[in-house]
Amino acid sequence: MTRSPVVDSALAAPFDDPQAYTAAVEQVRSAATAYYNGAELAMDDATYDALIARVAATETAHPGWKADDSPTELVAAGVGAVGDVEHSSPMLSLDNVFGEDSLRRWATRLERLLGRPAAGYTVEPKIDGLAIAARYVAGRLTQVATRGDGRAGEDVTTQARRAVGLPERLGEPVTLEVRGEVFMTDADFARANELRTGHGEPPFAHPRSAAAGTLRAQDRAYDAPLHFLGYAVPGLAATGLLTRADGAAPPHSATMALAERLGIATTAGSAAGMPLCTTIDEVLAAVAALDARRGELGFGVDGAVIKADQQADRDLAGSSSRAPRWGVAYKFPADTRTTTLLRIEVQVGRTGLITPVAVLEPVQVGGVTVTSATLHNFDDLLRRNVRAGDTVFVRRAGDVIPEITGAKLDERPADATPYEPPSACPRCGGEIDRSQKRWRCTQGRACGARESLAYYAARDSMDIEGLGGKIIDLVVGAGLVTDPADLYDLDAERLATLDRLGETSARKLVASIEASKSQPLSRVLTGLGVRMTGRSMSRRLARHFGTMDALLGASVADLQQVEGVGPERAVTIAAELVELAPVVGRLAARGINLTEPGAPEPTVVADPGDDNAPPTASALPLRRPDGTPMTVVVTGSVPGLTRTEGNEAVERLGGRSSGSVSKRTDLVVVGEGAGSKAEKAAGLGVPVLPAERFAALLAAQAAGDATTIAEIVTGFAATAP
Ligand code: IVH
Repeated sequence: MTRSPVVDSALAAPFDDPQAYTAAVEQVRSAATAYYNGAELAMDDATYDALIARVAATETAHPGWKADDSPTELVAAGVGAVGDVEHSSPMLSLDNVFGEDSLRRWATRLERLLGRPAAGYTVEPKIDGLAIAARYVAGRLTQVATRGDGRAGEDVTTQARRAVGLPERLGEPVTLEVRGEVFMTDADFARANELRTGHGEPPFAHPRSAAAGTLRAQDRAYDAPLHFLGYAVPGLAATGLLTRADGAAPPHSATMALAERLGIATTAGSAAGMPLCTTIDEVLAAVAALDARRGELGFGVDGAVIKADQQADRDLAGSSSRAPRWGVAYKFPADTRTTTLLRIEVQVGRTGLITPVAVLEPVQVGGVTVTSATLHNFDDLLRRNVRAGDTVFVRRAGDVIPEITGAKLDERPADATPYEPPSACPRCGGEIDRSQKRWRCTQGRACGARESLAYYAARDSMDIEGLGGKIIDLVVGAGLVTDPADLYDLDAERLATLDRLGETSARKLVASIEASKSQPLSRVLTGLGVRMTGRSMSRRLARHFGTMDALLGASVADLQQVEGVGPERAVTIAAELVELAPVVGRLAARGINLTEPGAPEPTVVADPGDDNAPPTASALPLRRPDGTPMTVVVTGSVPGLTRTEGNEAVERLGGRSSGSVSKRTDLVVVGEGAGSKAEKAAGLGVPVLPAERFAALLAAQAAGDATTIAEIVTGFAATAP
């Protein structure tokens, strides 16, 4: 992308003195230059956009103050390294709009220029990468240049050749130029940081700066992965490839389809797609649909680009020296912002998993206030060298828990001290098992057992009389109980053998445990201690869903239908429910009531693909976030399974099995002897799961091991394009 200088400034507040204006112009310029040169972002996108909107508003309000070289006049506010590769035509920028009203104003302006509405608009993703122009001669990739100052750019052919989606040879020996964006998918970014830190270099803080650094790198000891998506083929008409009967140039939609046919990946062919719309209402719906799917794409999209589809409309509307009038960028709320990392806390999960969590100065990311974010694991945290006091990048993509992608090392306070990971379990003081990436308390479930049982038995939860702290210590200490379901297996004789407990009290205790079986669902939920819920939220959830099955089957979007459940809470509740599914299953097997009296009939989530499928998708790992089945291809052999059994296993795990790989495939399971399907998956950037991991997933599903399931699923979800 570029740092586009022109924004819809109608709503921005002008500066009221010329010094403040000049200072802002300077800030914009240095931020934009840093942005182009790639190593670190000097300012997050939302702050940058707001600042330049104020600069533009000031220039409208006080034309006399306007700097001769104002960034609002340039193709790009900051200029990337200008090289000696001249562009065949200027590489222009796009104007930005930020909401429905400003998009409608843009469309009205275009309609005025044309004297009629445009004959069709395309809506495609705005990729958060770097613009390049790639030349093909007789079907061979010969030269790739950055945008530079829009007229000439730097030669980056060597690095760009490695970008997936920019083929070395086209399907036909044609001579043409394609323009588009080089970027890193989320999986590329993770891999790039592994490579980089493995070579003793500091990690990249953000996928865009990582792509910029990689594209311009020379003599690196490692090759970080890159992707490419094309969004224009200037001068296509001259190639004669798509000549129409009337001699007119082809529409944008046909151009993109042709590029795909030649083997070039395009925004239109990406997971985001490129719907063709006839009205602005349709455009707005397509923009909203793209925004909603943003988190699932597996690559950074910072907006939607709306373009008049027909070349005739484009010719009529024309361009200014800086940007076309036939196209515009609709910016989404930034999914990455910077904020201060206040401190690093350590969380111990129910199963003893120990994770570092960042406590943040509250910041708005993607329209949600974020106050904490995951730091993944201690290895990662140490590798990223993040410290309390740092300015960090916080990313929140769709329905995922916000994460810290890196720190701005150049802004580190002088007194920031390196992070010291815990030497013992912060909950029970026990030893930590560091043999895996994700650290665990060696006590496992027993580590948190006392706390969680006390919570379960409390008066506001299951109200189990006689099960106080001392008795809990006894039964846990004797190894009789590690989770609430174990309580229902206790018998009076065994209890009576424990210190302190006479026969009568033992019988009474068993009776009150038994009596708790008929508590309503809301009490069970409270007792299980679902993070980010308390008593009243548990009641609301129970009333809304009616049964535990319906609740476990709810998607993040379903959860947000409940009053008081916003996007951040919904994501946490969904993750918690996955973790709790095994203990819930054990409670159900012991006859604990899991329904809410008086709640409306639960709605069953129907599986469109299978009429006989069980109604809930609770712990089904091969479901998409919206509850629909993932399309999964099994290729090569899975240990211990025939081909049919492999496909049946996919369905047992909630997926839909398919025989061929396309860009709509969600996952490819690759076993021994896999051939072209695995290669195709790699080419399309479809996540791949080795057959042994698939077998481990099956085993974990059978054992109700939610932690392993979550670990495997998170692994391949993170590589989705
Ligand atoms: S079209 C003449 N389409 O955003 C207009 N640009 O802020 C050419 N970008 O310069 C640009 N995704 O670097 C277009 N689908 C897309 C895009 C896209 C990202 C970048 C590109 C452009 C900048 C404008």
